Amino acid sequence: MQRLIIKGGKRLCGEIRVQGAKNSALPLLAACLLADGRTVLKHCPELSDVFAACRILNELGCKCSFRQHRAVTDPTSAEGYRISEELMLQMRSSIVFLGAVLGRTGRCELSYPGGCELGPRPIDMHLAALRQLGVRICEEHGRISCTCPKGIKGAVIDLPFPSVGATENIILAAVLAEGETVIHNAAREPEIEDLAGFLTACGADIRGAGCSTVRINGVKKLHGCEYEVMSDRIAAATYMAAAAATGGELGLLGVRCEDIHAVTAVFEEMGAAVYCHGNSIFISCTRPLKAVGRIGTMPYPGFPTDAQAVVMAALATAKGSSMMVENIFESRYRHVDELVRMGADIKVSGRTAVIQGVKKLCGANVRAHDLRGGAALTVAALGAEGVSSVGNVQYIDRGYEQIERVLESVGADIHRAF
Ligand code: EPZ
Repeated sequence: MQRLIIKGGKRLCGEIRVQGAKNSALPLLAACLLADGRTVLKHCPELSDVFAACRILNELGCKCSFRQHRAVTDPTSAEGYRISEELMLQMRSSIVFLGAVLGRTGRCELSYPGGCELGPRPIDMHLAALRQLGVRICEEHGRISCTCPKGIKGAVIDLPFPSVGATENIILAAVLAEGETVIHNAAREPEIEDLAGFLTACGADIRGAGCSTVRINGVKKLHGCEYEVMSDRIAAATYMAAAAATGGELGLLGVRCEDIHAVTAVFEEMGAAVYCHGNSIFISCTRPLKAVGRIGTMPYPGFPTDAQAVVMAALATAKGSSMMVENIFESRYRHVDELVRMGADIKVSGRTAVIQGVKKLCGANVRAHDLRGGAALTVAALGAEGVSSVGNVQYIDRGYEQIERVLESVGADIHRAF
């Protein structure tokens, strides 16, 4: 088991060029299947989940190579429509391949996706929406077989909740469909806009991405293009939390301020100074941190569930009592017991966590149970007194590119032990 060994208490200072967004790169890689020809995705993060997406493309017969943050795909000979269970289980977002494979071949066979354990993560909204687009779906023994006897036809879809993955799957299935598809109550996350931006650059007709109503007019074909993946707003939020936990000052380059406004507002409430300039955010945390009233995770533009754990790690040493309410996932507090091992005073009841700030956290042996929880333990360890060991680094590697190198470059005492 790989571990991060962190000697806490070093102020982080300097600049970080923020990696490409995992949650954008994955649907973009699926979308590459829909183009007739070669596509180059620049600023693609080098992460285990992204490599898993490349393996799915390869399994489907699509060329996908990866070098120096450029993923080059060519689906010319991609005739496959089956995704093996082994690859599906590697990550939750393997499910976005469903819409893309259907759009390309008119059929798809796959199993239920895996991914981090955050409580039940059904795909009922994805399947119900695809049925409305004319997809016939048969679920048997954990496999899902989809066919489109009359082709994919545009439809009006009202999502019961603005699910990110379901919105992506509908867009992917609808871009080459016959007629217009309208999604009401669509997810508004910046990653949806990035997907629409990429598909539009390939010749798709999509309006309203980033708003609650998205309209997709099916086109006959798409061509390849070169596109730059947006920067990772959650990685940026994580490094902001690391600055807060260590009383540091960081410049985060390449990330759009408006994409993480809900997070920067919380750091400001905690007493940090945050400046946005162009595509950079500067955070300075030279004063002691203050608790915040209540933070509830919400779909975008609300406070993101993916930033809940890392902000909690910073709040663990903020003066006073803060409250977090996790509204998106049922079970996203698995980092709490580990933070408590480091001396944090956090009590969880159902979806609510009350964080009573303590003066200092102490280094301890802790283990990541999921991606963002692992990042939170890293943040806590950076601010703690003494040495910590954060185990199960493979979870962190799913979403953070060489986290130890990035943190070391701004002054952290951190290394990976094998
Ligand atoms: C995306 O997951 C992200 N993953 C998640 O990031 C993120 O936490 C989440 O959106 C919310 O922002 C990727 O983009 C790859 P949802 P997704 O569908 O699409 C329920 C990270 O740490 N739901 O918006 O799976 C679901 O159970 C990850 O990077 C249904 O009930 O999220 C959840 O409670 C983890 N039925 C809620 O909706 C469905 O059919 C939100 O899920 C679909 C979802």
